[in-house]
Amino acid sequence: MLEVRDLHVKFHNRDREAVAGVSFTLRDGEILGLVGESGSGKSVTAMSIAGLLPRKKCSYQGEVLVDGEDMLHAKRALLRKVQGNKIGVVFQEPMSAMDPLMKVGKQVEEVLVIHTDLSAEERKQRAIQALTDVELPDPEAVYDKYPHELSGGMLQRSMIAAAIVSRPSLLLLDEPTTALDVTIQAQILKLLKKLNQKHGISMLFISHNLNVVRKLCKRVAVMQRGVIVEEGLTNDVFFRPQHPYTQHLIECIPTRVKVIARRSAEETADNTGKSAETGRVDATDGTGVVDRAVQAGGERHDGSR
Ligand SMILES: Nc1ncnc2c1ncn2[C@@H]1O[C@H](COP(=O)(O)OP(=O)(O)OP(=O)(O)O)[C@@H](O)[C@H]1O
Ligand SMILES: [Mg+2]
Repeated sequence: MLEVRDLHVKFHNRDREAVAGVSFTLRDGEILGLVGESGSGKSVTAMSIAGLLPRKKCSYQGEVLVDGEDMLHAKRALLRKVQGNKIGVVFQEPMSAMDPLMKVGKQVEEVLVIHTDLSAEERKQRAIQALTDVELPDPEAVYDKYPHELSGGMLQRSMIAAAIVSRPSLLLLDEPTTALDVTIQAQILKLLKKLNQKHGISMLFISHNLNVVRKLCKRVAVMQRGVIVEEGLTNDVFFRPQHPYTQHLIECIPTRVKVIARRSAEETADNTGKSAETGRVDATDGTGVVDRAVQAGGERHDGSR
């Protein structure tokens, strides 16, 4: 699906490479987490994958293969084709990502205007279907609303609808829940998991919050200063971090959350007959308990909201 090979990106106005040799693979239908401190190169990596690097402002090397097409060096026409058909992108701030003067429905279907020759009516149907897929109540009404008429959670759902309206096989999610409060955050994570399971969409989920990633992603890569310092199954990384930086990230998660997460991982492993060591697929599913712990005020130490 996605293969990043030895990606380097250096902005001309910076001394240090923003991305300094990153390689990873995202398999079909998988959700991979990418975590790391601010400035570690997560967004630049995502931009490279989406073909959104400001090429004139940087030098870049390596390969970013999306279904075999190298997005890093692709010509404009190919870039647009892949962007319109294969990749959907969701960013952190739903409010600033939307045009306040344009109705939500029109924004959701914008990608179809650019990349397809569907009729206006067909586009509208597709947009309403996407708004339905993200489980917005009364999608027809939402279609006709302006962004300021929606709550933050509804807006983020609309942004996800805009990202999936072209039925992409890969979603790049750059801190999609960071600006949301914890309850809404949990709902969006649940929705993403559903979209992954129901539509088989592969996802790269970027966050600086390892605890959020633990709930959604089977595998995680940890970035620091432009490189991946650790990569593996999320539960392995969460419970047995090897790299000092990952250990530091885990230390920032309150102990109470870690204990409950550990118990839920073990319980799930018991229920499925797997050991806690290998039962991580389901263990990452044990969100309910941790959510409650987090809602009780646990999370915040890592600077997330
Ligand atoms: N357009 C740009 N021009 C110059 N430098 C940039 C540009 N975009 C990013 N950078 C630099 O590249 C480095 C990596 O930035 P990036 O946005 O990928 O970090 P990040 O891991 O996404 O951080 P955050 O968690 O804050 O979003 C940073 O040093 C940043 O200042
Ligand atoms: Mg970023």
